[in-house]
Amino acid sequence: MADSGSLRKREEKEEEDDIVCLDPSFFVDRSYEMTTFTFGSHELRLLCLRAASTDFDLTGQLVWPGAVLMNNYLSQHPEIVKGCSVVELGSGIGITGILCSRFCKEVVLTDHNDEVLEIIKKNIELQSCSENAHAVLTAEKLEWGNSDHLSGIIEKHPGGFDLVLGADIYILEIFLLNCFYFKALAFVFHSFDM
Ligand SMILES: C[S@@+](CC[C@H](N)C(=O)[O-])C[C@H]1O[C@@H](n2cnc3c(N)ncnc32)[C@H](O)[C@@H]1O
Repeated sequence: MADSGSLRKREEKEEEDDIVCLDPSFFVDRSYEMTTFTFGSHELRLLCLRAASTDFDLTGQLVWPGAVLMNNYLSQHPEIVKGCSVVELGSGIGITGILCSRFCKEVVLTDHNDEVLEIIKKNIELQSCSENAHAVLTAEKLEWGNSDHLSGIIEKHPGGFDLVLGADIYILEIFLLNCFYFKALAFVFHSFDM
């Protein structure tokens, strides 16, 4: 007869056997579609989703209304960013920074989410074949307020940036901005009901 200790161990082993481990990718939708966006005379072809999951903070897998507003405005007023070096916060698929790269000298697209950074990098790659690409376009991991991420970016860009951009990123940690040397700030906050 099994003693209570070995019975318990067997039960624990059975419970462990019942646990199904799912790879995190099970929850992630990567069915990105090539989509054409038009802002004034500028056409951008980018990979994005049509709907996003908020569970894993994958809100950056699609284009938000704030980015559409910002891009329409920038396409009408390219002089705002002309020749500038720009860092974008919470870039999502990169639609705003990538439009800016048509007018700027340098654009750093940032996001905190690794999955989102992957799609940003793919969209940056797509620009390398475009004859409209002017600026040096790069992607960096940046969680707002993370001093290690900030130091890494500042190390690579010791001159700082002329402009900090953000579309639909609603939470602004003001001290973050103090860490960048910048001359101007352009944010679009899109308000919506939840
Ligand atoms: C609503 S989406 C906006 C994306 C894009 N700017 C647009 O308008 O289409 C917010 C973005 O901010 C990023 N984000 C959210 N919290 C963040 C944080 N704490 N640090 C850095 N990025 C963050 C998300 O990953 C996402 O890409």
